[in-house]
Amino acid sequence: MAQLERDPNGHVLTRASTWDGPTSIDNTGIAGCCGSGKGALEFKLTDSASYGPKYLRVYCQQVHDFPQEQPADSIPDDLDDLILPLVIGPVFLHPSDRLLSSATNKPMELWPEDTPMVHATYRWFGTQHRGHLAIHEAWEDGIHGKVWDSALVMVKMIQRMAQHPSYRSYLDGKHVVDLSAGTGLLGMCALRESKCRRVTVTELEEALPLIKSNVALNHQDGDNHDRIQVLPLLWGDHDQAMACGKADLILASDVLYEAEFFESLVASLVDLCAPKGRVYIGYKRRGFDHEEEARFWTLCQAHFQVTLLNDHPDDPDGGLLPVLATKVGVKLYRLVPA
Ligand SMILES: C[S@@+](CC[C@H](N)C(=O)[O-])C[C@H]1O[C@@H](n2cnc3c(N)ncnc32)[C@H](O)[C@@H]1O
Repeated sequence: MAQLERDPNGHVLTRASTWDGPTSIDNTGIAGCCGSGKGALEFKLTDSASYGPKYLRVYCQQVHDFPQEQPADSIPDDLDDLILPLVIGPVFLHPSDRLLSSATNKPMELWPEDTPMVHATYRWFGTQHRGHLAIHEAWEDGIHGKVWDSALVMVKMIQRMAQHPSYRSYLDGKHVVDLSAGTGLLGMCALRESKCRRVTVTELEEALPLIKSNVALNHQDGDNHDRIQVLPLLWGDHDQAMACGKADLILASDVLYEAEFFESLVASLVDLCAPKGRVYIGYKRRGFDHEEEARFWTLCQAHFQVTLLNDHPDDPDGGLLPVLATKVGVKLYRLVPA
């Protein structure tokens, strides 16, 4: 797996391209973006001193001439909330004697059929400590192959936990479980940001390869690698939950979307949570009505004291809720054993 290191010699040329031609501008006034959402940016990498795989980081440094002015009360915590960074790669550079025909200077639709293309994209998350996390998303894998909105909010929650002295004890020295982790983002974020003792990332069996490759991509130093384990856990499977070990902190992002699994999901939370543990659930309403939602929280209340932090800004954990939660419609619940 290639290391994600900065190439000090590489240069990148960028141009906008739309389906109507490389420089056309439609009524958005922004080249590269049409009202339909279609549009693209093309990148050309030059002057690199080394060949082999490269990853291209695309992020927002400045916003100007944005067509919809942002209302003052929705100004994001940082630019990454407005336009999410991406990583594209691996891109393989070849020596100039193997250059493709000049057709790649034309709009992408006109490139020769056999032009090698890169389809893998990575989300790129800044961390307070030790660089960045690159998360490979595999949309073709289905639900688990992407980072969901609640996870974006919970990344910021973890950073607040790690940063503020009043919350640090939630993580430091603790066993953290990222339950049904999808890409593994939250578990790796906890590992990077804190001095937690151990991280267990769980998922359905078929989702484990993507998580393992993300772990390998981000945690190549032996120390961190020893502190993270990736294990199968089907909700309600008691033996699998026991194999994970009791957790001091359980992170569960966007796990409520099938009402038929409510009971088994709660059973796993009960199995995993240490007597003095804490569970944080990020929830974004998708298909459920109020009655179905209430049924889940009632099931939880048989075992846990449940607090919706969005409704309790004065709660000691109120400071864990980032502005982004309101912006993207994510609710953050805390569960502690009753
Ligand atoms: C909407 S995704 C959220 C993924 C990740 N936590 C995030 O927020 O980016 C829900 C996850 O729950 C997992 N899942 C669904 N049913 C499950 C079950 N019965 N047992 C364990 N995990 C399950 C899926 O594989 C999927 O990755």
